[in-house]
This record gives sequence, C-alpha cells and structure tokens, in this order.
Amino acid sequence: MASLTIRKLDEAVKVYLRLRSAKNGRSVEEEVRVILGDLIQGRPLSPAALSQVIPPSGAPSRAPRRAADAREQARVTLIIGGGIAAYKALDLIRRLKERHIHVRCVLTRAAQQFVTPLSASALSNERCYTDLFDPASEFDAGHIRLARDCDLIVVAPATADLMAKMAQGHADDLASAILLAANRPILLAPAMNPLMWNNPATRRNAAQLERDGVAMIGPNAGEMAEANEAGVGRMAEPTEIAAAAERLLRPPQPRPLAGKRILITAGPTHEPIDPVRYIANRSSGKQGFAIAAAAQAAGADVILVSGPVDLDDPSGVTVKHVESARDMLQQVEASLPADIAIFAAAVADWRVANAGEQKLKKTGSGMPPLQLVENPDILATISKLGEKRPPLVIGFAAETEHLIDNARAKLARKGCDWIVANDVSPATGVMGGDRNTVHLLTRDGADINVDSWPVMTKEQVATELVARIASTVEKVS
Ligand SMILES: Cc1cc2nc3c(=O)[nH]c(=O)nc-3n(C[C@H](O)[C@H](O)[C@H](O)COP(=O)(O)O)c2cc1C
Repeated sequence: MASLTIRKLDEAVKVYLRLRSAKNGRSVEEEVRVILGDLIQGRPLSPAALSQVIPPSGAPSRAPRRAADAREQARVTLIIGGGIAAYKALDLIRRLKERHIHVRCVLTRAAQQFVTPLSASALSNERCYTDLFDPASEFDAGHIRLARDCDLIVVAPATADLMAKMAQGHADDLASAILLAANRPILLAPAMNPLMWNNPATRRNAAQLERDGVAMIGPNAGEMAEANEAGVGRMAEPTEIAAAAERLLRPPQPRPLAGKRILITAGPTHEPIDPVRYIANRSSGKQGFAIAAAAQAAGADVILVSGPVDLDDPSGVTVKHVESARDMLQQVEASLPADIAIFAAAVADWRVANAGEQKLKKTGSGMPPLQLVENPDILATISKLGEKRPPLVIGFAAETEHLIDNARAKLARKGCDWIVANDVSPATGVMGGDRNTVHLLTRDGADINVDSWPVMTKEQVATELVARIASTVEKVS
C-alpha cells in the first residue's frame, strides 16, 4: 500500500487541505482520508470550492488573511493556561461563540491538569492543540499557523508563568511559541493568587507586556480558590473577557449622527390602474437603502419609507413599506419630526385618476382611456412645511438631460437644501445598477455650489453623503 507525504504536496493543495481540515475540525490526514473516500464513492470535489483556495497556475499561493469585520466570523485562538480558573475558559468558549466568534483552543501541559482537550474540542467544535512537536499539525509549522490564522489571540487564564515566558520571549512549548510568533493582537486574562500577582517579578512582567502592546482584562478583586484568601488575582468573568475580545475584534465605529433622526425614502412607487396592474418605474431602491444603512452605521435613528423593492430591510433601521405616492407622503408625514430628510425615492409624478375597482377587461371598443392626475410632490411638501420642516432636506434629481441645469432649477423650485443629481439615461445603467455618478448641489447664500463626484458604488455614494451630512450637522450644532 502506497503512503502519502503531505509535506511534499503542492503548496496550493496543502493550503486547500489545511483550510478544509480546519473548517471540518479534522486533522489534515483525516481530511485526506475523507476526500479519498468521497472520490471512491463518486462524490467529486466541487470545482468552485477548489478555485477559492487554489490559485491559477503561476499565481502565488498564499492563504488569504481574512479581516475581522462585522460581515465575517472573527477567529480567536484561545490559549488556556494551567491555573485553577481554566474551568472558566470552557465557559469563555461558549461566550465567544455566542458572539459569532470562531474559537480554536490550545491547552498548555499544565492546563490539561485542570480541563481536558476533549471538553475544549467539544465546546469549540474544533480540534484542540496541545503539543509543539505534534507531527499531525507541525508538518507545515502549525504553531505559526495557529498564531496567524486568526484575528486575535486570547490567553485565559494567563498564568504568572505564561506571562513571564511572554515577557522574556520564551518558546519552549506550543502556547509560548504561538505567542512569540504572533502578529495578531493578544488579550491576556491573568488569574493567580494575589501574592503571585503582586510579586515584583509579575509586576515587572505585566508592565513589560503592556509596553509590548499586549492588552489585558482583569484580574479582578475577590475571593481566591485558596481558603481564606482574597485580593486582586481572580480571572475576569468569561462575559467580560468575551466583551473585551469583541471590542478588539470589532472596534466601535465613530457615530457622528448619534441622536439624530433621519427620514429616508427609497424605491419606486406603484400607481394602480386596477387591482392587478400598476404604473411603475425602474428604480431599484438600492441607493436609498444604502443611505439608510450608512446613516444607521453612523449612529442615526433611521426611518426608511420604501416603495416596492426586492431588497432586504437594512438591519437596525425602521422600515415602512408603501405602494403609492400618496401612501408614501402619508407615512413620511407620520414619521416627522426628523432632523434630516433625504428623498431618494423615484416617486411617480402621476397616478391614474380613473383606476378600475375591478380588473379592466378587453372590450370590442378598444383600450380603456387612462386619465392621469398629478401626485402630491413629497419633496416640495416637506421642504415648505413650517415648524415641522426638518432642518436639512435633501432631494434627488434623476435626469436624462441637462442634468445640472435641471437640478439647479429643482433646488430652487422645491425649496430643499441640497439636491443629489444623477444622470439616469439608459446608457449610464444607474437605474437598477450598482454604481452611480452624482453631483451634489448645495446652497451657499444666494449661490449654488456644485460638487461633482467620480463614479462610485451606491454604497460609496451613501457613505460620502452621510459624511457630508455629519460634517454639516457638526458645524451647525
Ligand atoms: C492546584 C494548582 C492551581 C494553580 N493555579 C494557578 C493560578 O491560578 N495561576 C497561576 O499563575 N498558576 C497557578 N498554578 C501554577 C501553574 O500551574 C504552574 O505555574 C504551571 O507551570 C503553569 O503552566 P502554564 O503557564 O504553561 O500553563 C497552579 C498550580 C496548581 C497545582
């Protein structure tokens, strides 16, 4: 029977095997066995899965470093040290997972006197690592991978011994080798007897580690495991450590619009012809939804009044779904007062005055005549409100010709403060597309300033617009 040396495999194949085995919580050898078994039973590898990790030939093969942002699952390597608080590290695994943080555990030799690798694996749903000289994980320098293939390293409990080794740069076991090889942030949760914590050696080590940029949570004051002993040395609670880890993984974003209420409209309106037919336009709602999401991320309290669209409601935003222009105006008025109103919806200018109460039927006398009447002008109505007028009213001008001239005229006619003008002629692909080229018209006394932005995604336009709003609001308040 032939044997396979994984070390000699092509680098890209090793990357694939490593990622796949880590994902499935198996050793690389086990993963190879599963793959071979699948192939023998006629279950081929998906080419899409392979192409994600195997670059085209000639391209450098390097496992991608994933950023820890809100959209992806952040990854923590949790080093459990040999202290009495090690049992709490098992709860910490659960608290991290609750926060959608993927956990991979490393146990020191001493930690295994307090908790078992099996418990840590079962709770993390991952293989647990204990040995620096483990042929199964060290064929490709697994300690370096454990140090780098994560977004944060948490040490809990961080023993006096581990802190001393870190401060001195020791690397004689898996935990200390990972910590020395790390290029990711490190969070320590020290736990030890108060005499150990207050010992000048530990004080020196803690100070050195802080100078080295290592973050710490705790220790807290309280009762010790040892009878009749109290003082500073208790490990921070798992919930505190998980919260500190999350702050490092997902630092709070600036919230320049905190406390501001922003009303946004988006999408088309549907104007009924009869109960089953309507007049609509090509607006997708993407731009208004992107603005709502950006304003929410900037800390605003956002109300989004949306016509019929095929988009998910942005999270953290209050969404009111409407059909027609008149419904939209009603919901907009009901949502006031607001500090800022942004009218990005493509509201139908006209509706059918003689909409059928029943489905219109074909008759021998030809097409039924549709009589159109003007819809309420939501932007003008809100811009001209007295007391309830939002201090900053922004309209959108979607034009197919004479863009800037039409937008200038609209700014004056409607009485709003800013206009975001965009060319929606079919060749631009803006209607329904993902990109937008806009011009921001703002009043400057009697003058109108025109700021032309380069082509951007609708999300970038939203971020830029929200940044402009934030700086204006800051200047005014
Ligand atoms: C019962 C018991 C409890 C211990 N608790 C702690 C502790 O809470 N904190 C600490 O720093 N060391 C504690 N130690 C000492 C460590 O286990 C010892 O320093 C060990 O070498 C640490 O190894 P590690 O840092 O590789 O995990 C304890 C030892 C025993 C026997």
